[in-house]
Amino acid sequence: MKPSDPIGVFDSGLGGLSVVDTLRRMMPDEQILYYGDSARNPYGTKSKEQVKQYSFEIVERFRKQNVKAVIIACNTATSAAAKDLRKAFDFDIVGMEPALKPAAEMKAPSKIAVWATALTLNQEKFAHLMERFDENHEIIRVACPRLVELVEQDQLDDLETVDTALQEYLKQSEDAEFIVLGCTHFLFFKDRLKQLANDQVQIIDGNVGTIKRLHSLLAQKGLLAQNPNGSLTIDNSQPEKIDLSWKLYQTLEEKL
Ligand code: DGL
Repeated sequence: MKPSDPIGVFDSGLGGLSVVDTLRRMMPDEQILYYGDSARNPYGTKSKEQVKQYSFEIVERFRKQNVKAVIIACNTATSAAAKDLRKAFDFDIVGMEPALKPAAEMKAPSKIAVWATALTLNQEKFAHLMERFDENHEIIRVACPRLVELVEQDQLDDLETVDTALQEYLKQSEDAEFIVLGCTHFLFFKDRLKQLANDQVQIIDGNVGTIKRLHSLLAQKGLLAQNPNGSLTIDNSQPEKIDLSWKLYQTLEEKL
């Protein structure tokens, strides 16, 4: 492996582009290969075994492209497959989990709503994470499948539909002081959610923490890119989603 090798980033579809956006801002010199599995989206309503199988196929594809590391830009695939992927491949694999810890450390006691997919919320991995904090906090789990659909179906500009979905999930999160966005698709709603939620609610995601972890792993191995010539390639199991991927990525890029 060498510093100029690419980094593979994947998700069940388009949500992981929000992680790519953070990655490109924090590590602009890297070559990034993004793969969205929109043809098999959503992962969040499938079985753990199924999602594990898909994740192995995608990481194997990255192995053939000689990646130096992989980011699982999907909380659902991380909880289903990260442990086994790390055993099977010899490059670093960085996953994502709902950023409950940073939220819990900001204020105790507090009421925290974790928005994620049903598969993430129902797995043992999340139960263990909750156990670490539920003594001092009230933690509620809110599965939000509609938000995944709205991104995949290019409906982000349909504000009425977006607001109806967000209001429904806000109702289920009543009185929460923190909302943790535990699914990468949900990052596309962050600004609108801030407008709709009560001023006191803080919205937390794990993107920056994930990229810091990747940076530190690559730095330890002397594998950070050396030359300022970063690039991004976007691929998707449903090729007609590639144009939409670029459109979504550009809306994120324009935000800062
Ligand atoms: N973006 C994914 C996540 O972070 C899941 C969306 C889905 O396929 O259900 O969990």
